[in-house]
This record gives sequence, C-alpha cells and structure tokens, in this order.
Amino acid sequence: MSTRPRTPGHGAPGPGKLPITDLVGMKASHSPIAMITAYDAPSGRLADAAGADVILVGDSAAMTVLGHDSTVTATMEEMLVLTRAVTRGARHPLIVADMPFGSFQISDELAVTNAIRFVKDAGADAVKIEGAGTMLSRVHAIVGAGVPVMGHIGLTPQSATALGGFKAQGRTAAKAAKLVRDALALEAAGCFSIVLEAVPSPVAAKITELLSIPTIGIGAGLDVDGQVLVWHDLLGLYDGHAPRFVKQYANLSTEILRAVEAYIGDVRERRFPEEVHTYGMPADELAAFEAELASGAAAVPLPG
Ligand code: KIV
Repeated sequence: MSTRPRTPGHGAPGPGKLPITDLVGMKASHSPIAMITAYDAPSGRLADAAGADVILVGDSAAMTVLGHDSTVTATMEEMLVLTRAVTRGARHPLIVADMPFGSFQISDELAVTNAIRFVKDAGADAVKIEGAGTMLSRVHAIVGAGVPVMGHIGLTPQSATALGGFKAQGRTAAKAAKLVRDALALEAAGCFSIVLEAVPSPVAAKITELLSIPTIGIGAGLDVDGQVLVWHDLLGLYDGHAPRFVKQYANLSTEILRAVEAYIGDVRERRFPEEVHTYGMPADELAAFEAELASGAAAVPLPG
C-alpha cells in the first residue's frame, strides 16, 4: 500500500498536482484532457496511477455506489465522505467534487457555503454544478468566493425529469443555439471548464470552438477538449442500462463474480484457508499450552 503524502486540495497546488491554469492551457495546445469519475481511495489511486488529468467525484455515486436509480438522492454528507476518500487516494489529478441536487439551487449563499465545505473539509480542488440560467449567479458567487467551478450542460441528470428523461439534448436548431448561449454565459460567469453531456457532436464542436475554456464531453463526440467516463461504466461494474456513449473497457463484474464464487466454493469444500494462509506456533509452546489446559489452569471461574 502506498504511503504517499496527502495532497492539499486548495490554495497552492500540492507537489505534482495539475494546476487549473495548465488544464486550461491543454485546450490551447490541443492536448486531450482525460477525466474519469472515482468514488473512493482505491479508485482515486488507480485513476491517478493511470494518468488521469481530472477526477470527478460524481453524484453518479448515488447510482453506481449507493444503489439508487437516480442522482437526485445524493446528499452533501455522502458526497463529502466520498470526496475525502478520493482526495486521500489521488495525488496528481485535479479533483472536482460534484455538488449534489439541493446543495446549490436554493441560494448563492448556500451554494458558496457548500462549495467551501468540499474544499475545506474534503480537499477538493474545484466543484461542478449542473445547469445555466439561474445557476449562473451561483457560479459567479462560488468563483467569487475562490472556489473554481466546472459547469455541466446538455443532459443534466439532476433535472432529467424536467428534460423529458435521460435523452440527448440540443437536437433542434433552437435548442442547440440555447446550449451555445448557455456555454458562453457559463464561461462569462467564471467557469474554468464545462462538461457537455449527450449533445450532438456538431453542437459540441461549435461550443468548443467558441469557448476559450476547455469542454469535456460525455456523449459529445470527438471535437471537444477532453472526455469523461463513469468509473463503473468503463470497467463493466454497473448492471443498469448503459447509455449509447459508454465504452466498456473491461468486464470486472464477471471477473469479480468468478472470484467470489471461487472463494465461496473453497470455503464450503474446506479448501480455504491453506497452510500458507495459517499461523502456527512453536511445538514447545503448543505442548505447554495443552498441558496448561489439561491441568485445569485455564478453567473459567463460574460467576458469583
Ligand atoms: O456525476 C457524474 O458522474 C457526472 C458525469 C457523468 C459527468 O456528472
């Protein structure tokens, strides 16, 4: 197990931590940004070791980790616990905490309070909030308080019901033009980057061309500045419906099932533990132990 020092999450970046300015510079240098979600210390450590630029502690955790069927149930307390775990595991990537539904919609003050909790109490480097419109004022307030904000438009799962379900967005000229306006407004409000989810690729390409901050696509095609995938989708660990934009790089559910079944079989057939997993004791100590038991010295006195 690694004993690397924990990276401070806010203020001056810790040693080896990707600064936000470098992330923004990756757009100019056409270096694709690799972002992935993570929800605990091992996934944070592995995403870091694999070279991820950004880790999103997504509120998708409500579905992938906590077993809900939507992200709206995620709470601040849950997201703080998960973010703390990821910041303990990951040192180099920029760590963005997803602000859960209800933690920023009510007022600018509440949004700033909760964004600061992610930074101060959980070590996040930035927060992500879904939406534009009324949320522009939240972005402005949070950035004004010193916390970098990543925007998120297109399919915003926290408002999936209002959007008519988990569907691609911006597929008419008017809706595509609205996405462009929202992206420009989020940039003007101070976002350092914007996630574009389930957006037609020509629309995502146009937004990417018009913005000076990086766009991160998920179901937005290749012509964006970076990509994000959900940990459980990429690794084949989620057994719910996978959207069209998911590419599964491994099938760990099958592998885990095989391993756990093998363990259960070994327990039932007394094949586990083997000699190598077992502690012994010196023969003379064992003999003395047995003699002590035989002499009654280890008898437990009756109560009373
Ligand atoms: O919560 C999440 O994982 C997300 C990504 C899909 C961008 O918001």
